Amino acid sequence: MRAVTIEDGKLAIREYPDPIPGNGELLVRVRAAGLNGADLHQLRGGYPAPPGSPADIPGLELAGEVAATGHGVARFQPGDRVMALVGGGAQAELALVHERVAMPVPDALSWPQAGGFPEVFTTAHDALFTQCGLGLGDRVLVHGAAGGVGTAAVQLAAAAGALVTATVRNPEHHRAVAELGAERVATPDELRGSGGGGPFDVILELVGAPNFPANLEALASGGRISIIGTGAGSRIELDLRILMARRGKLLGSHLRLRPLEEKAEAARRVEHQVLPAVASGRVRVPVAATYPLDAVEQAYDRFRAGGKLGKIVLEG
Ligand SMILES: NC(=O)c1ccc[n+]([C@@H]2O[C@H](COP(=O)([O-])OP(=O)(O)OC[C@H]3O[C@@H](n4cnc5c(N)ncnc54)[C@H](OP(=O)(O)O)[C@@H]3O)[C@@H](O)[C@H]2O)c1
Repeated sequence: MRAVTIEDGKLAIREYPDPIPGNGELLVRVRAAGLNGADLHQLRGGYPAPPGSPADIPGLELAGEVAATGHGVARFQPGDRVMALVGGGAQAELALVHERVAMPVPDALSWPQAGGFPEVFTTAHDALFTQCGLGLGDRVLVHGAAGGVGTAAVQLAAAAGALVTATVRNPEHHRAVAELGAERVATPDELRGSGGGGPFDVILELVGAPNFPANLEALASGGRISIIGTGAGSRIELDLRILMARRGKLLGSHLRLRPLEEKAEAARRVEHQVLPAVASGRVRVPVAATYPLDAVEQAYDRFRAGGKLGKIVLEG
């Protein structure tokens, strides 16, 4: 098979032996694989793939057809359309996926949409609902709302009956993010200028340090802050008295390094709670651009440039 590889900090396309599915594994003919910030991090030499995943083939999410199944596979058969989170190795013609983390692809999703779904929707769902216990009528702030996780989070929170405020630094995308379900869309500066726009019961932090301490000031009593992305900085000075006074919770998380059973649980929750809304068209996957596997460098450059709405996806 052909696959994207990272060699000495550079991207290339190389031939690899076709992987062979083991117990419980699916061999997937990859049709689409979304790019993520983690790929750029891995290219720069950080964030290595966890043990058991290909060390030199990037890619955390994919969609494609099951080409073959390993011993004991019960949920899928050859020809099925599946999508999944993987620890690495998605940016290839073939990839191995444990059947427990695979989800069926609803007919409503094209291959690029399905390839850009698993990482960002699982992350957004896990952060908002599993960790922060988001509920009907909660006031939510999503920072970095025009990206992959942000566009997922805005839609899921709105679908769950929350009142969503979103920060988006590119004004060109404000209307589109409002159409995804945000009641208010502002630039980060506008929100700070209006006193933080709170109180918020849940804050999804996808940008990082610059949004603190305003996040603490804007937190409602009993509020939760989920820290998922720190691309703009990870170090802050925190007045713990404000956190105490708000009876607030700071939560941090990542998906990639979780054990199989925890990823499987997250996938089952997404399957149960999100896929019906995707299938009916109430929730969609915005794709900003797609690139063929051979144009992987352009795809990474486009992701790196920012200013996009939703996902950048490689097509196989
Ligand atoms: N912990 C986990 O398990 C996990 C899982 C998935 C993602 N992540 C992380 O979460 C973050 C969001 O992921 P994503 O897939 O949504 O990434 P993305 O598609 O690149 O979106 C990031 C968004 O944040 C905005 N942004 C970046 N720097 C900013 C700044 N300094 N000020 C204001 N806005 C800024 C971007 O705006 P512009 O387009 O204008 O640059 C973009 O809309 C990334 O850091 C990613 O690595 C973590």
